[in-house]
Amino acid sequence: MKAGAKMKKIAIFNNKGGVSKTTTVINVAYAMAYKMEKKVLIIDCDGQQNATRFLASNINDIGIEETLVNDSVYPDSSFSKTRYENIDILTSTVHMNECSENFSALEAEKQKANIAKFTSYLSKIEDNYDYVLFDMPPALNSVTEKIISISDGVIVPVELGIFAIQGIAKVTDAINKVNAEFIGCFIAKYDKNNKSDAELKEILESSLGDKVFKTVIPYSNIIRNSLNYKVTANEYMYWQSPAKKFIELTEEIIRKVG
Ligand SMILES: Nc1ncnc2c1ncn2[C@@H]1O[C@H](COP(=O)(O)OP(=O)(O)O)[C@@H](O)[C@H]1O
Ligand SMILES: [Mg+2]
Repeated sequence: MKAGAKMKKIAIFNNKGGVSKTTTVINVAYAMAYKMEKKVLIIDCDGQQNATRFLASNINDIGIEETLVNDSVYPDSSFSKTRYENIDILTSTVHMNECSENFSALEAEKQKANIAKFTSYLSKIEDNYDYVLFDMPPALNSVTEKIISISDGVIVPVELGIFAIQGIAKVTDAINKVNAEFIGCFIAKYDKNNKSDAELKEILESSLGDKVFKTVIPYSNIIRNSLNYKVTANEYMYWQSPAKKFIELTEEIIRKVG
């Protein structure tokens, strides 16, 4: 299968950990690939390597971080197939955790050249993929800013909580600072039995309006357990609502970004 229209690069980002970034990347990639017949490249930008460990057929010694700090390393060095024919991945290693520090220590010219090397790789693979999904680390630093800046837009999973909602301003500021597009945020881990979640959902919608996705991903053991069994929610129990919600979320993403 050949990819269709222009490849879109989407960063799934929140500076908080545990909000469902990686879960979203994996489940949305699966929905894109197997429900919508798209070709997807995941780029694991997190030193925790969760997407890498979940998906990669081989975990490379050289992670994608190396391309940002070492002139002679190209992104291909971290390429891996996955067990899904239509999903490939650029893997990370634990050194991603020091990447921002090492990147910041480089001269401005070197930084620029390394970013240019990365973006030229992404231009070269335009015909091979419909979507690139960046699985971001829970950090705001020079490298996450660069990655956000080379994306076509950013989607922010939000776990409801008053501090988390207030914290979104920091995330949108970071996105605006580098002139990237804030595609929107969606509620991850929604608990319909908790009255406070309904109230917080309203607060979020009143402050961000149509930037809040219509699709809400529920807190669900189907989602949690599926990852433990190393499958996506749709492979685990496609007939159950939480799995279907990832298809809805993916449809909404595609409607927004094309
Ligand atoms: N909708 C959900 N319902 C229940 N558990 C979830 C849901 N989304 C994610 N999780 C669980 O929450 C934890 C953190 O998710 P993860 O995707 O790794 O977050 P992040 O990448 O933002 O750090 C994981 O154990 C995952 O299984
Ligand atoms: Mg993660």
